[in-house]
Amino acid sequence: MFINSRRLRRCKLLQVSVTCFAVSLMLMWAQEENDFVNHIKSYSYRYLVNRYNFVNDSLTIVREKSGARNYKYLISNKDKCGEEDVLLLLFVKTSPENRGRRDTIRKTWGNEDYIHDKYGANMKVMFALGVDKDPVKRQMFQEQLEIENKMYNDLVQQDFLDTFHNLTLKFLLQFGWVNTYCPNAKFIMTADDDIFVHTPNLVSYLKSLDLIDVQDFWIGRVHRGSPPIRKKDSKYYVSREMYQWSSYPDYTAGAAYVVSQDVAAKVYEASQTLNTSLYIDDVFMGICANKMGVVPRHHLFFSGEGKAPYHQCIYNRMMTSHGHLDDLHYLWKQATDPKVRALTSGFWGSAYCKLVNIMLLCRIRYDDTYPCSAAWF
Ligand SMILES: *[C@@H]1O[C@H](CO)[C@@H](O)[C@H](O)[C@H]1NC(C)=O
Ligand SMILES: *[C@@H]1O[C@H](CO)[C@@H](O)[C@H](O)[C@H]1NC(C)=O
Ligand SMILES: *[C@@H]1O[C@H](CO)[C@@H](O)[C@H](O)[C@H]1NC(C)=O
Repeated sequence: MFINSRRLRRCKLLQVSVTCFAVSLMLMWAQEENDFVNHIKSYSYRYLVNRYNFVNDSLTIVREKSGARNYKYLISNKDKCGEEDVLLLLFVKTSPENRGRRDTIRKTWGNEDYIHDKYGANMKVMFALGVDKDPVKRQMFQEQLEIENKMYNDLVQQDFLDTFHNLTLKFLLQFGWVNTYCPNAKFIMTADDDIFVHTPNLVSYLKSLDLIDVQDFWIGRVHRGSPPIRKKDSKYYVSREMYQWSSYPDYTAGAAYVVSQDVAAKVYEASQTLNTSLYIDDVFMGICANKMGVVPRHHLFFSGEGKAPYHQCIYNRMMTSHGHLDDLHYLWKQATDPKVRALTSGFWGSAYCKLVNIMLLCRIRYDDTYPCSAAWF
């Protein structure tokens, strides 16, 4: 058979390029697949194995070894709670340089007097922080913090560097402080300093729970079966030495969660015999709780990474919303306007809000705020 040599060459060329294309595609897939496989593995752990005692055992240390990490209090405000009945002790995780954020929070959702006068509830707000990481600026910041604390008496600070990788130390600071100086607080919340918390809604909800004396209470945005991130360049990278399993126990996102008094005590107790090298504070909290057999419950109106839509029908039920800095004053004013309640209550108000919420939350584009199901309940 006669074959044109030129055609043969063209065939070869085509073959080579197709092969190259296929190989590059496969390489790309392999990259993707890592993530994909990780998720499949972690979900299998979560839903098939579904106990994490091995985690507990592998991270347990003897109590004597944990003593060294009790950092000294630089500012403690240990009389903040006193003998009073405290409904909610709200910790805001902050850093020395974020004075502006703290001042805004004091005037908006962290305003203790407002909550006391309008809702008859005792809420205490504390800002938790370490020392500035920059040795040159540290002294200056420290002096400013002392002055700030003289004005407001609401800081709690320990002698560790305030860095992302020390968040677990900040977690221990908060739960240690509650246990020592405010064991009478009925509920304890932890929040970031760049979020919005609808404290009136939250306090009303907690008041109703307090009447029925809840226990083992832990709410927030729950992460189930999350895999540890093994990519070295990620902010959340966790080595296999630090955590060897393919899935974390269930935990609530660290941006905002609430626990009852008994859970705070149990979690603190557990933290005393766990290896704290795992620096992701919310995952660490999950491991502590798991050790004590406490499970988190998802609350539909705790937002993910996204900002909640600005609307009365959302304000009516929102608990937290993420990523608010410049608009806190605006949002606080809008969300606490008495008109909100008037417009959204009653038969027609509820029907209207159901419709609006379906339109706002059940979109194809994913915003990571409240799930579509939140519109239906
Ligand atoms: C965690 O480990 C401790 C000691 O290793 C054990 O006493 C406890 O029962 C374990 N907890 C769970 C939930 O498995
Ligand atoms: C955490 O704080 C301690 C105590 O100040 C410090 O020695 C350590 O370097 C800090 N770790 C990180 C990762 O910043
Ligand atoms: C805690 O875990 C780290 C590994 O992440 C390990 O190097 C360290 O020795 C452990 N600490 C204790 C007290 O077991």
